[in-house]
Amino acid sequence: MNKKFLVGNWKSNKEVDDIYEWFKFIAEKFSHSGAIYAENKVLVICPSFVHLPLVKDLISKYKLPINVGAQDVSSFEQGAYTGAVTAGQIVQYAKYVLIGHSERRKYFHEDEETLKEKVKQAKTHALSVIYCVPDESALIPSEIEIVAYEPVWAIGTGRTDTPENANRTAQTIKTKSNAKYVIYGGSVNTTNIKHFLDQDAIDGVLPGGTSLDPIKFWEMMVNAS
Ligand code: PGA
Repeated sequence: MNKKFLVGNWKSNKEVDDIYEWFKFIAEKFSHSGAIYAENKVLVICPSFVHLPLVKDLISKYKLPINVGAQDVSSFEQGAYTGAVTAGQIVQYAKYVLIGHSERRKYFHEDEETLKEKVKQAKTHALSVIYCVPDESALIPSEIEIVAYEPVWAIGTGRTDTPENANRTAQTIKTKSNAKYVIYGGSVNTTNIKHFLDQDAIDGVLPGGTSLDPIKFWEMMVNAS
């Protein structure tokens, strides 16, 4: 059986104390039955840039099979780009990076040209890109292996695409791009996760809100097994 991705996108949430609590809870659960539930999954947590080192340290302190992901990356190499965080900096802490999330496209006006440069930077520094698209018509750079299909109307609304339609979309994305994996995002929760993961063409999920609460994150892991 192929492994399924469970990628928690924390967005601009959490402060240091919350993060300690989150990992304490998850580590406690893992110490009892974590191996069983983690076995068939690729677990990724995407905190804010400023928390990447802390999350990396906590994962190694508790010896958890969780990967670190960043939520974005600079489209530039290192240099005079105030406020930008480069792929070379990120890769010291993270293995994955989200590129093209709909919130980046909408609030930060990221266009296809910028996204292409971001992908180039990420690839140059050996980050694994999770490339987010709102539908099957979006452009997907040829070097992308992991795509997140996230309908904009489903993000943070409590409304999801149907698992069957998400599956069809994932299939189309695989046909028209070089993506090996397509994951679904948009109001994934502890109950509906199973229906998405049951679909043939869906290789995982990208929950935002539900990943913030460690109890719910753990429940997703259990229900996805
Ligand atoms: P949501 O966010 O699960 O809170 O809808 C998903 C995402 O934006 O990645």
